[in-house]
Amino acid sequence: MSSQSAPRKRVTIHELRRMKDAGEKISMVTAYDATAARLVAAAGVDAVLVGDSVGMAVQGHDSTLPVTLDQMVYHSAMVRRGLEREGGRAHLVGDLPFGTYQASVDDAVKASMRLVAEAGVQAVKLEGGAEFVEVVRRIVRAGIPVMGHIGLTPQSVHKMGGYVVQGKDSDKAQQILRDARALEAAGCYAVVLECIPAELARIVTSQLRIPTIGIGAGPHVDGQVLVYTDLLGMDLTFTPKFAKHYAEVGVMVRDAVSAYVGEVKSRAFPADEHSFHSASVRLVPAPVEDDHEEPQGGVMGAPI
Ligand code: KIV
Repeated sequence: MSSQSAPRKRVTIHELRRMKDAGEKISMVTAYDATAARLVAAAGVDAVLVGDSVGMAVQGHDSTLPVTLDQMVYHSAMVRRGLEREGGRAHLVGDLPFGTYQASVDDAVKASMRLVAEAGVQAVKLEGGAEFVEVVRRIVRAGIPVMGHIGLTPQSVHKMGGYVVQGKDSDKAQQILRDARALEAAGCYAVVLECIPAELARIVTSQLRIPTIGIGAGPHVDGQVLVYTDLLGMDLTFTPKFAKHYAEVGVMVRDAVSAYVGEVKSRAFPADEHSFHSASVRLVPAPVEDDHEEPQGGVMGAPI
């Protein structure tokens, strides 16, 4: 796989801030394995998120709640290796999964350290607003950059009553703005705004010095993030309203595998060009040895 002529300089948290200040949009996409990481890196994406969306996009769960820290470490390490194979330019963020940062600050710091030390992420992301400022402060104090995530926070699906757009009335919008400011003050270097009205995202973005990365938050943010499988149209049954399919990979995979199944059945595959030959193979047929003994009993030798 060869990369495009993307610049090789690593994208750091400072580079993301510079991009905001310069009005350059930030592109971010999720990835969960090395193959995807190599492809998105070759495409020149600025940042890659190993999201706990892996639970829904890959593992077949209907929420992100069952995803564990071990799984996040496993997937993040694969993505790190894939990015390195393509020059290591993209900024890598790993999600703190449900249950790793809500119970105690110490849990949060230890989980973040595992993602950095064992998987090689450059930053962690956690969901929640002002109630997590102490957690953010302590992770940052440990030397680990933190990306915030407010608006629709999938780990709170039960509290929200479903995956619903947040901040549609003035009180809730005001709270989202307060949360964004609190996260910035606590030391977050960027914040994801998920599924909030574009008007609110514009205000939040204009009031923060750190970059905002939107998903379902309209165009007036500093960058966009999409889930890899949504961007590629890999789910044949569901597309969120905010996602755009840049390809119909799901249809392509289904049709390709269907063609393969057809050719196996019809014996069209493998053709001669897919087969190996050797002119020197001369096998003497082995004599048929009649050493097959009839069983003396039934199951486990019991008399029949
Ligand atoms: O887990 C994830 O993929 C995310 C993005 C939707 C921002 O948090």
